[in-house]
Amino acid sequence: MQKQIHAPPTRLVVLGTGGTIAGTADRAGDHTGYTAAQLGIHQLLAQVSGLDATLIDCEQVAQLDSKDMDHCCWQLLAGRVAHHLARPEVQGIVITHGTDTLEETAYFLHRVLAPSKPVVLTAAMRPATALQPDGPQNLLDAAAVARWPGAQGVVAVLAGEVIAAADLRKVHSYRLDAFAAGDGGVLAQVEEGRLRLRRPWPAQPAHEGAAALLAREVAAWPWVVMVTSHAGADGRQVEALTSIGVNGIVVAATGNGTVHAGLLPALQSACEAGVAVVRSSRCAFGALVGQGADSFVHRVPAEPLPALGGAGPLTPLQARIELMLALAGG
Ligand code: SIN
Repeated sequence: MQKQIHAPPTRLVVLGTGGTIAGTADRAGDHTGYTAAQLGIHQLLAQVSGLDATLIDCEQVAQLDSKDMDHCCWQLLAGRVAHHLARPEVQGIVITHGTDTLEETAYFLHRVLAPSKPVVLTAAMRPATALQPDGPQNLLDAAAVARWPGAQGVVAVLAGEVIAAADLRKVHSYRLDAFAAGDGGVLAQVEEGRLRLRRPWPAQPAHEGAAALLAREVAAWPWVVMVTSHAGADGRQVEALTSIGVNGIVVAATGNGTVHAGLLPALQSACEAGVAVVRSSRCAFGALVGQGADSFVHRVPAEPLPALGGAGPLTPLQARIELMLALAGG
């Protein structure tokens, strides 16, 4: 019998979704008065010297300002990423995206796909028409990461840093290094196309509710919203949401997961009414620590008062995705 020899995967797939990286302004040097999502993925790649176009497949999956990212686009993107990952000749995938919801898309793809090949999101803080756009370098660095033999899973590459989806946060509205990894720390730095590793590459399986969520029409995805506990908070918003059928609420709670006394009774009533309620911290970094910090309990006994589950290290944005998946998975 003849032994089958598989050629090593060499193709890179670049998927465009819009964002500032594809944005244009009327005036060079205008970093704020531009329109996002104007250039196609082929045009973006043409701006990057050093990429071998013969080894790249590209596809425009969407063309939007990522502030308008929605679940339909996530479902489509997850489907295209899964399709390309299944091609044996594909080594890795790069996705160009807006910075504003990059951390949400990265976490979503991480939890629904948990790919063994690298899926690398990148973006830019300056439009393509800037005097010194950051997009081309970020795209070049992202391609280097997608081609790096040890890379796997969903990561973001911006300003020379590689950050795992689970640790990614946008922390600045304007600076080129707008993202941080918090307590987790960056995975690696990209230097002249080579990676300087800072810690082991993480691996986490997909959420058990992933298949159920992706199989559903988006209109039937669990409706999960975020509510913030803040000075002067009260329960009216939660009462209104409960009365119109919300499925889950993530509370962006103060500090180590505390909730305003004016908001707590409405959340406990929501729990009793069958709404899934989870607390996460509104702090930029740090996990909930201590009792119930990561129980992620969302249906609790009604007596005497329901305890609200904690989302552990998840940000409110990540906890929202996790709760959608948990509810979809039953
Ligand atoms: C966007 O998120 O699409 C616009 C802002 C950006 O990419 O920085």
